[in-house]
Amino acid sequence: MEKELIEKLIDTAIAQLAYSYTPYSHFKVGAALLTRDGKLYTGCNIENAAYTPTNCAERTAFFKAVSEGERSFRAICVVGGKDGVLTEYAAPCGVCRQVMMEFCHPDEFQIILAVSREKYDVFTLRELLPLGFGPDNLA
Ligand code: THU
Repeated sequence: MEKELIEKLIDTAIAQLAYSYTPYSHFKVGAALLTRDGKLYTGCNIENAAYTPTNCAERTAFFKAVSEGERSFRAICVVGGKDGVLTEYAAPCGVCRQVMMEFCHPDEFQIILAVSREKYDVFTLRELLPLGFGPDNLA
């Protein structure tokens, strides 16, 4: 993926930290999800006093996109840190990886973990979810 596009995804994910609702963990996460036809969907984590209804930033972005008819995704950028301070990668939790597996090709979908425009790494979904179980297993 072109560096300019990666930087746009990183900037967009970082901008979502401002909307992250985290009165309990104070761990803010932002996501920017890119469709195959170039549209961007954003997400932040949204916590809840009952804890388990908390939604991760990645799933917020996916559910926004899927609920608007999107089914074809190219990449997601994820950033996160305590109080919104980015010091290391915030890798997607297992549940979010499984949601990606539902809608994305594991060898093609790219997951960009970033701390800044200068410090990031790109992984495939297969790398983050080896031997994942997905729709093809039920075909
Ligand atoms: N969180 C995300 O938003 N994405 C992840 O993949 C990891 C965890 C959120 C959930 C919760 O609001 C906070 O980070 C601490 O777990």
